[in-house]
Amino acid sequence: MKGTAAGSAVFRERVDEGLAAVERAMLDVTDSQIEILRDASRHILGAGGKRIRPRLLLLTYMALGGIDLERVAKPAAAVELMHTASVVHDDINDHGIMRRGRPSVNATWGRTFALLTGDYLFTAVYELMAPYGDLNLDLAQAATALVEGETLQATAVKENEFSREVYMRVIALKTAALFRAAGAIGAKLADASQREIEALSDFGFNLGLAFQIVDDILDLIADEESLGKTSGIDMDQGRGVAVALGADNGNGSVPAADPMAAIKRKMLEGDTIAKARQHADLLVKEAIDRLAVLDETPAKQALVELARLVVDRDR
Ligand code: IPE
Ligand code: IPE
Ligand code: MG
Repeated sequence: MKGTAAGSAVFRERVDEGLAAVERAMLDVTDSQIEILRDASRHILGAGGKRIRPRLLLLTYMALGGIDLERVAKPAAAVELMHTASVVHDDINDHGIMRRGRPSVNATWGRTFALLTGDYLFTAVYELMAPYGDLNLDLAQAATALVEGETLQATAVKENEFSREVYMRVIALKTAALFRAAGAIGAKLADASQREIEALSDFGFNLGLAFQIVDDILDLIADEESLGKTSGIDMDQGRGVAVALGADNGNGSVPAADPMAAIKRKMLEGDTIAKARQHADLLVKEAIDRLAVLDETPAKQALVELARLVVDRDR
């Protein structure tokens, strides 16, 4: 049935089934008896999000012949929970008060509980990954990279040393490492060869770099409503929902501008945005080239589409 319309309809159903299993796994593992943790987790998870990382992991697995959706769902959920934990914490640091089209966890429950909710989501990852042996290492390394990336970024902002090199290093660590792990874990779960694992890890990594570059462009040019989250331009100009709602910074005043905003604004000068887009396009092209190791299947096609979506999106 490979390549036929019926074949791809079956494939799409399988993907939906896999992603539904991911949602269930995330909800099951965040069912704390402590009301705030459960409610805040439900709040951020229920808001949706693009689910690009679990989709990447699932599609990689399927593209390499994996068929056990229940087995792949938990690591995919773990990757998404790690990402979700990171945005919950990121919104504390960046004074983000809107996320995924809803008030952020910090805007709703305050910083302390947002910190704890992020911790809770991070710890849920241990539980989900417990049966997965060495794959824990891939995720642990991505978690470390994420924290290192956010730290490097904060240091660079503080010391006003935000060169292009530093920027690339930051996004490799804070974003692309987790995308890489999604590719690597999907491939390893499918018992792929070393060559396939490397190719799909590189695919994920390049996609992650492109994804963050596009995220930063959107942060500058898109409005908050379509992004569904606090964006730099609004923070910087002191308008939008950030100002309208006030902030959870203890004194009810408007939050300090995202320190990244000034740096991002610089990106608006001249043809910087066009260049950044070109760079993202190139990274995606290189990513797609790495898929040459795969057989032609609907799953491979879906990975190509996922890669294109990374650069061609408005949220
Ligand atoms: C936002 O990630 C944070 C970045 C790494 C750019 P996403 O754009 O994937 O966020 P959701 O999950 O769809 O909300
Ligand atoms: C996202 O960073 C958080 C991580 C990658 C850990 P950003 O601050 O650039 O992302 P948004 O724009 O708030 O989603
Ligand atoms: Mg942010």
